[in-house]
Amino acid sequence: MQIQDVYTLLAADREAVDARIRQRLHSEVVLINQIGHYIINSGGKRLRPILLLLSARALGYEGEDHHELAAVVEFIHTATLLHDDVVDGSELRRGKETANNVWGNEASVLVGDFLYSRAFQMMVGVNNMQVMAILSEATNTIAEGEVMQLLNVHNADLDEAGYLTVIRSKTAKLFESAAQLGAVLAGSDQATQQALAAYGMHLGVAFQLVDDALDYSASSEELGKNIGDDLAEGKPTLPLIYVINHGNAEQASLVREALEQGGRERIEEIGKAIESVGAIEYTSRAAQAEVDKAIAALATLPDSPYKEAMVSVAKFAVQRSH
Ligand code: IPE
Ligand code: IPE
Ligand code: MG
Ligand code: MG
Repeated sequence: MQIQDVYTLLAADREAVDARIRQRLHSEVVLINQIGHYIINSGGKRLRPILLLLSARALGYEGEDHHELAAVVEFIHTATLLHDDVVDGSELRRGKETANNVWGNEASVLVGDFLYSRAFQMMVGVNNMQVMAILSEATNTIAEGEVMQLLNVHNADLDEAGYLTVIRSKTAKLFESAAQLGAVLAGSDQATQQALAAYGMHLGVAFQLVDDALDYSASSEELGKNIGDDLAEGKPTLPLIYVINHGNAEQASLVREALEQGGRERIEEIGKAIESVGAIEYTSRAAQAEVDKAIAALATLPDSPYKEAMVSVAKFAVQRSH
């Protein structure tokens, strides 16, 4: 099964989620509608809603709340993107100018807050205490992750373990929650909920590892984001951490200095160092190892097209170029 087949398998559910998203975006405040529709309509892979839908379906859920909760996780994701692009000073997202570039930082931060709080209104509507516990913990952890990352900007001493702590929090936590929520809705036992949570966590780590590799190796057109943003910002991601720890003295100090100063000036030399040390391959192998763990976590799930689709999504996370 390819990722396109996953989208086809879920066509009806995805349409229902998109209708829910459009409906819940509504506000009497014009700017909220404008920015909300701008970012939501510019696409996005909708991976987190897909995880929630697949996990609910794989476990035999037959109710209606999966559509609302899938919209909730996409709202939370979108809120973090609006905030993240301000913090990262990014100019391109989903192949279009970022909202902060079009409307300014203030508007992006405030509309991000609208989406966060709308997500909370929606989850309260679902009226399930465990759902609220999972999502409130997730948003809190994501915020911690983004702050930890901020504290490590220009820190050339961040090691692989510290980097992993950041990406588990800022990215993988929401994948974990999405997959776990499907199991919670389906009324699955604790062990199954934990298995789905583990699947989401490993997949989320792989996803961010690949995102960080793509920031040095993708094409902007295909990715829909500017590459080199991480270096410009002085963000210590795994490709750079690997060069510092495994490159020769010259390569290590080149990357150290570039991280400490930020900016794109030395991106070509750095690209060469990354290439000669094999830092992208190393990052991809680390992502593949996480994907293998994600797939292994699904072992006890009954066979179904939805389970197969979960395996495909995990594989897509490392094969993707966007
Ligand atoms: C972007 O996530 C932020 C990261 C965690 C790397 P996605 O790549 O899922 O973004 P969209 O929603 O598809 O644009
Ligand atoms: C992911 O990190 C951001 C969030 C989880 C909010 P990045 O900063 O790498 O994401 P992109 O590259 O801007 O999408
Ligand atoms: Mg960013
Ligand atoms: Mg990135």
